[in-house]
Amino acid sequence: MRCSFPKSAVNGEICAMHVRIFEERDTDAVVGLWQACGLTRPWNNPHLDIQRKVSFQPDLFFVGELGGAVISSAMFGYDGHRGWLNYFAVHPDHQGKGYSKILLEHGKTALLALGCPKINFQVRSDNHKAIAYYLANGYTQDDALSYGKRLIVDGPKG
Ligand SMILES: CC(C)(COP(=O)(O)OP(=O)(O)OC[C@H]1O[C@@H](n2cnc3c(N)ncnc32)[C@H](O)[C@@H]1OP(=O)(O)O)[C@@H](O)C(=O)NCCC(=O)NCCS
Repeated sequence: MRCSFPKSAVNGEICAMHVRIFEERDTDAVVGLWQACGLTRPWNNPHLDIQRKVSFQPDLFFVGELGGAVISSAMFGYDGHRGWLNYFAVHPDHQGKGYSKILLEHGKTALLALGCPKINFQVRSDNHKAIAYYLANGYTQDDALSYGKRLIVDGPKG
């Protein structure tokens, strides 16, 4: 699946971000993107998170490429009841250009094709920018609390 709008000027040339499925060669760029976007945490190992995703529903793990560089990512999943979104990121150098919407549309289309009726995600409560982003883009806060229990410890404070 490819998308090519909107367009952005890079090095004086007009380029378009296209969305494609993550490939292993993207690993370092994607981990760097997540670090640049503040999405990594000590208790999550991004390389293990990528390995797990590559072995489960890899077709729902998208990257956005612009001028040959990976500038965005969105890791979707469908558990048979809800669709999930993780590691949603646009590189700070390319934020504010509408690229996030291309990724979200791509993911929504893929989830709908699987019959998924609703998309869910977690946002850290101190990520005020992302919360404002989601509210501005039609997502609403569910009347639910999020609970978790680690099954595999990947790092400190796991
Ligand atoms: C969240 C994120 C992916 C959004 O990408 P972006 O490139 O900044 O957003 P876009 O330029 O595509 O904006 C799309 C729309 O959202 C609006 N928007 C963007 N950021 C916004 C914000 N903080 N508050 C309100 N609206 C916002 C834009 O104005 C635009 O609106 P329009 O369609 O009416 O023009 C990006 O900011 C990011 O990577 N953040 C760091 C990582 C992160 O926190 N991810 C979310 C984890 S839950």
